[in-house]
Amino acid sequence: MQIFIDSANLEEIEEALKRGFTAGVTTNPSIMSKEKRTDFVLHIRRIIELLQRYEQAIPLSVEVFSLEPREMIRQALEFREQFGDYPGLNIKVPIGWNELAVIRELKKQGMSVNCTCCMSLNQAVMAAAAGADFVSLFYGRIRDIGYDAFSVVERTHRIFASAGISSRIIVGSIRHIHDVNDAFLAGADIVTIPPKFFPQLVSHPKTDEAVNQFLTDFRNWQER
Ligand code: E4P
Repeated sequence: MQIFIDSANLEEIEEALKRGFTAGVTTNPSIMSKEKRTDFVLHIRRIIELLQRYEQAIPLSVEVFSLEPREMIRQALEFREQFGDYPGLNIKVPIGWNELAVIRELKKQGMSVNCTCCMSLNQAVMAAAAGADFVSLFYGRIRDIGYDAFSVVERTHRIFASAGISSRIIVGSIRHIHDVNDAFLAGADIVTIPPKFFPQLVSHPKTDEAVNQFLTDFRNWQER
């Protein structure tokens, strides 16, 4: 059970790395677009330098940005050129009929692949069968059109476990901290979480109440 940060923001990533719970980083073209306009390669290099500064060789997902399979492969090979010195690099490729051949080719080239934009058990199974190291299920988007996201994750976990499939299930598209709990309960190996949720994941009003009461009682005792 691991927590990844779903962000390309250097400050957000560093705040998470400082706290020791971050086991990986996922980006995608939309997440990148939230950053100040900059050179894509330079920005990914900055993320890698940050991870190396924290002595982390944790997985970093970098997504191709094309619909054309040959271009996807070209981009992935270019990413390896540019970032391949980072042992945690994995290439994000969306699920799709033509994309399966991209996954297979990248695996033949010895690269780690995160097959993303999966919304169903069958997509996850096909991605794993093509050799994807990670399969990313989009919790929020599955639920957006009324499907039971918990069931999709739970059934994928059950099938992977019973079939001995080693691909790791990443659950993304988190919209609420309950999604994090539910994804882990459904059997996700990894939940990748937008940083805005991290403080919420450790907060509770009764925690604040207890801590404040302890300090008050102690202070009162000392001042008796
Ligand atoms: C994982 O990294 C996904 O790309 C990400 O969680 C998608 O989130 P969204 O559905 O909110 O765009």
